[in-house]
Amino acid sequence: MAERLVLFCLALLFLSRLVLSESDSEFFYSGFHDVGNNMSLNGAAEIENNGILKLTNDTPRLLGHAFQSKAVLFKNSSTGKVFSFSTAFAFAIVPQFNSVNLGGHGMAFAISPTKELNGTLSRQYLGLVNSNDNGNFSNHLFAVEFDTVQDLEFKDINDNHVGIDLNSLDSNASVPAGYFADGNSTISDLILKSGRIIQVWIDYDSSKNQLNVTLSLSSSKPNNSILSLDVDLSPNFEDNMYVGFSASTGLLAAAHYVFGWSFKINGQAQSLDLSSLPKLPLPQKNHEGLILGTSISAAAFMLFAVLLALYIVKRIKNMDVIEDWELSVGPHRFSYKELKQATRGFRDKELLGFGGFGRVYKGTLPNSNSQVAVKRVNHESKQGLREFISEIASIGRLRHRNLVQLLGWCRRRGDLLLVYDFMPNGSLDKYIFDEPEMILSWEQRFKIIKGVASGLLYLHEGWEQTVIHRDIKAGNVLLDSELNGRLGDFGLAKLYEHGSNPGTTRVVGTLGYLAPELTKTGKPTTSSDVFAFGAFLLEVLCGRRPIEQKALPEELILVDWVWDRCKRGAILEVVDPRLGGHYDEIEAVVVLKLGLMCSSNASERRPSMRQVVRYLEGEVVVPEVVAAPEEYDANKSGDHGGEFEDFLHSYPTSSYFEKVSAWSSAEYPDRDVDLEACTTSPLSIAGKGVKR
Ligand SMILES: *[C@@H]1O[C@H](CO)[C@@H](O)[C@H](O)[C@H]1NC(C)=O
Ligand SMILES: *[C@@H]1O[C@H](CO)[C@@H](O)[C@H](O)[C@H]1NC(C)=O
Ligand SMILES: *[C@@H]1O[C@H](CO)[C@@H](O)[C@H](O)[C@H]1NC(C)=O
Ligand SMILES: *[C@@H]1O[C@H](CO)[C@@H](O)[C@H](O)[C@H]1NC(C)=O
Ligand SMILES: *[C@@H]1O[C@H](CO)[C@@H](O)[C@H](O)[C@H]1NC(C)=O
Ligand SMILES: *[C@@H]1O[C@H](CO)[C@@H](O)[C@H](O)[C@H]1NC(C)=O
Ligand SMILES: *[C@@H]1O[C@H](CO)[C@@H](O)[C@H](O)[C@H]1NC(C)=O
Ligand SMILES: *[C@@H]1O[C@H](CO)[C@@H](O)[C@H](O)[C@H]1NC(C)=O
Repeated sequence: MAERLVLFCLALLFLSRLVLSESDSEFFYSGFHDVGNNMSLNGAAEIENNGILKLTNDTPRLLGHAFQSKAVLFKNSSTGKVFSFSTAFAFAIVPQFNSVNLGGHGMAFAISPTKELNGTLSRQYLGLVNSNDNGNFSNHLFAVEFDTVQDLEFKDINDNHVGIDLNSLDSNASVPAGYFADGNSTISDLILKSGRIIQVWIDYDSSKNQLNVTLSLSSSKPNNSILSLDVDLSPNFEDNMYVGFSASTGLLAAAHYVFGWSFKINGQAQSLDLSSLPKLPLPQKNHEGLILGTSISAAAFMLFAVLLALYIVKRIKNMDVIEDWELSVGPHRFSYKELKQATRGFRDKELLGFGGFGRVYKGTLPNSNSQVAVKRVNHESKQGLREFISEIASIGRLRHRNLVQLLGWCRRRGDLLLVYDFMPNGSLDKYIFDEPEMILSWEQRFKIIKGVASGLLYLHEGWEQTVIHRDIKAGNVLLDSELNGRLGDFGLAKLYEHGSNPGTTRVVGTLGYLAPELTKTGKPTTSSDVFAFGAFLLEVLCGRRPIEQKALPEELILVDWVWDRCKRGAILEVVDPRLGGHYDEIEAVVVLKLGLMCSSNASERRPSMRQVVRYLEGEVVVPEVVAAPEEYDANKSGDHGGEFEDFLHSYPTSSYFEKVSAWSSAEYPDRDVDLEACTTSPLSIAGKGVKR
């Protein structure tokens, strides 16, 4: 009887092992059309109708996970040794704005004891770990990362590398992305975020304790791998592990796609035939271009030639002709000759700098001897130029002590020359970023902030029509002789919108200052200006750019970094260290909180400029508790909001930040607070000197 039972149990064991190995130790997906429940997804991950697995789209701060639903038995239970395994998959990373330079943060093939990876973070953490458990052996995590942002925290070698990670995003081995082309023994460069489909093979040989990673742009596996690591994975693996993918975006965002995937235990995974995988739909613009290009390219070329000829003839004829409509425009129209003389023929020596839209020259007007700045904007679209010039009439009438006054203009062929008041102290960015020659004191900074706020309020509300600036940043704030901040370049961004094709919206502005909804709707609002103003507040406070690609990783995105410090209670650590602790802490807290409020991802949560000005003037106290800037529509980010929820829950009761704000808002209306009181207040614990 006992014998039978043992036999029966053995048979059962054998059978279950057999079933396990058949169903889970090998699979092959050429496209994910009908994987059904075989894969489980969370976060932003989804399988599109065309069968492509999309881990994230190009929205900032997303993460997505896609794992094989059933765990894979990875270990021989009698020896405890990990089996050999092999996998091949095809992926593509398509950055936001179709720009190869601006995408993030990357994706990874992962083997993990859980398929949910709850509590992991987006951004540089790639959805694999969080800031607390990075490097903890209890993660039992193995990953091969395809990382497109350089994070110095993890000692990343560059912003385009492949790395092998054990429990930590500090890779145990990494190389710049590359591949061996057919029959070539030197590595060719490969840009991960180029949008091209890349096939990857990851092979682990359990007898040699060796792991190889091989990349290619084709269906056949190159003979040479680009990355190899001698490692015994057995100590790090549990018996049953889940295999899958993870990807994340930060403020730098890209869509991460997987097109096909094969996996096999104790054998070579089948390579994917790239031609039989689902295809990414071409972006709308390229699509049109392609149809046009293939069907009527010859005709288009001829048309182009004719237009070019016409254009050249017109250019010769139309040197500096004043057209009727130009005469109806209000502010002074300078003659080209006058401006050429003023700038001494647009000499390089007179060049003040390169603005967002063109070169700026210093000039002295021959008649009045007054100094001016002349901005030379080149614009190909005559239509856009015409519409813009008709707006100069109104823009030229805007007058405020915190705006750079537009004195007049001139048009010559495709060039638009705008004449502004000369600002002897140049633009603000020179005083706060990198290694400035002169450091602005806190009083000066606060005065500039208040000035810019009231200038922007005037644009938004102080005039008969709302003017949206669209490109607020330190570089567009100029300093007059008394170091007052004045907004420049207002209305100019519009020129570029007018110039684009009707129907397409072109996002104008500077990355890091662009409100998230702007990249979706393309429609600038006063609220998107407020978002940029928030970034501006934080950069003046912290002395850093909103996005620093080379900064320490956790500081990569200024807002995130500031928020992170506030959460930890190190609220005043964010203040520009170059101030040497000499600043008004009450004002600094107001600026910090306003910066965070304005940086909210949800436009309706941002204050209006009128409210901002009242906060800055101390007419209204800032709220005690400021919501997380990332806190936004949970539906959009999937149910994976752990990153944000954590502190939202812990924050209101335990946060040090809250105590500081309670203190400062209570004291704020009365500026002459007894500073001795600070030594017993939570503020002084932050370890910064109190300004006297
Ligand atoms: C899903 O898994 C089942 C068994 O677990 C298998 O029979 C089926 O072929 C799988 N589907 C796909 C699309 O691989
Ligand atoms: C586990 O290892 C033992 C000893 O090397 C071997 O005999 C057995 O076949 C292995 N089992 C599996 C499932 O590979
Ligand atoms: C992860 O979260 C999901 C949903 O909140 C939950 O069902 C699951 O049990 C969690 N997994 C782990 C390992 O905590
Ligand atoms: C690693 O994680 C375990 C379990 O989560 C925890 O108990 C331990 O303290 C962590 N170790 C470190 C060094 O953080
Ligand atoms: C991988 O790197 C981590 C941290 O850098 C280290 O603790 C670990 O021992 C390394 N593992 C192997 C197998 O080299
Ligand atoms: C790999 O090497 C074999 C023989 O060494 C050669 O025939 C084959 O063409 C090579 N394959 C590639 C993709 O380079
Ligand atoms: C091999 O690859 C290198 C690097 O991309 C390239 O410069 C070289 O021309 C290639 N050689 C051949 C024979 O294709
Ligand atoms: C890794 O690559 C080396 C050299 O190309 C090769 O000798 C070895 O067999 C490979 N190992 C695995 C596990 O594929």
